[in-house]
Amino acid sequence: MIRVVILISGRGSNMASLLAAADSGALPAHIVGVLANRPDASGLNTASACGVPTAVVDHRQFASREEFDTAMAAAIDHFAPDLVVLAGFMRILGEAFVRHYQGRLLNIHPSLLPSFPGLHTHRRALAEGLRIHGCTVHFVTPDLDHGPIVVQAAVPVLDGDDEATLAARVLAQEHRVYPLAVRWFAEARLRLADGRVVFDSPQDGAAALIAPQAAGG
Ligand code: GAR
Repeated sequence: MIRVVILISGRGSNMASLLAAADSGALPAHIVGVLANRPDASGLNTASACGVPTAVVDHRQFASREEFDTAMAAAIDHFAPDLVVLAGFMRILGEAFVRHYQGRLLNIHPSLLPSFPGLHTHRRALAEGLRIHGCTVHFVTPDLDHGPIVVQAAVPVLDGDDEATLAARVLAQEHRVYPLAVRWFAEARLRLADGRVVFDSPQDGAAALIAPQAAGG
C-alpha cells in the first residue's frame, strides 16, 4: 500500500472518488492526509467524515509563493507520502516544490492537454466549437498544466451543451480516470522514461485512452 496525500482547493469530488476507490479496496493506497490552501474548501468536511486527517495551509497567510510552497511541502512531508495528488488544487506551485516531488506528483486537468491549460476549459472548448473534449491525468512539471501524460478520457461535445453540461460529462470521466492512474502508480505499472510515461503492459497503455461514444452512431 502506498501512502497518498491529496491537495484540494474546493469541493473535492475527485478526492472523494479516490477515497471511495481506496475504501472499496480497488485502490491499493492509503490516503493518509488531505490538505487545502483554503479553510473554506468544502472537501475538507468530506475527508474528515471519512476519517482522513486534514490540514489547511492558507495561501493568504504567506507573503510570497515560495514561503507558501515551503509551508505546504512541510505539511505534506509530515505525512511521508509516496505520492502527492492534486485534485482541483488551484494554486500554481513553484519550481522548487515541483522538483521536490518529481515523479510522485500527479494532477488532473479538465481538458485534453496540451489544449486549454489554465482556467475555464469548458467555456473555451465550447467557444472553439470542439467536437471532442475531455480530461488528462499527468505528472506535474514546473510548466503549468503540462507534463508527461498518464491517461486521457475524451467525451463528445453535444449540440446544446453549455458549460455546466459539458463540465458534468467531463467530471464523470475524471472520477473514472484518476483512481485508474493512481492504481497504476501504486502497482508500479508505469514509469517515466525520457520525460514520457511508459507502461509495462500494452493493455494498460491501451486503457490509457478512453474514447468518446459517438452520439447517434
Ligand atoms: C476538476 O474539474 C479538476 O479537473 C479541476 O478542478 C475541478 C475540481 O473539482 N482542476 C483544474 O482545473 C486544475 N487546473 P473537484 O474539487 O470536485 O475535484
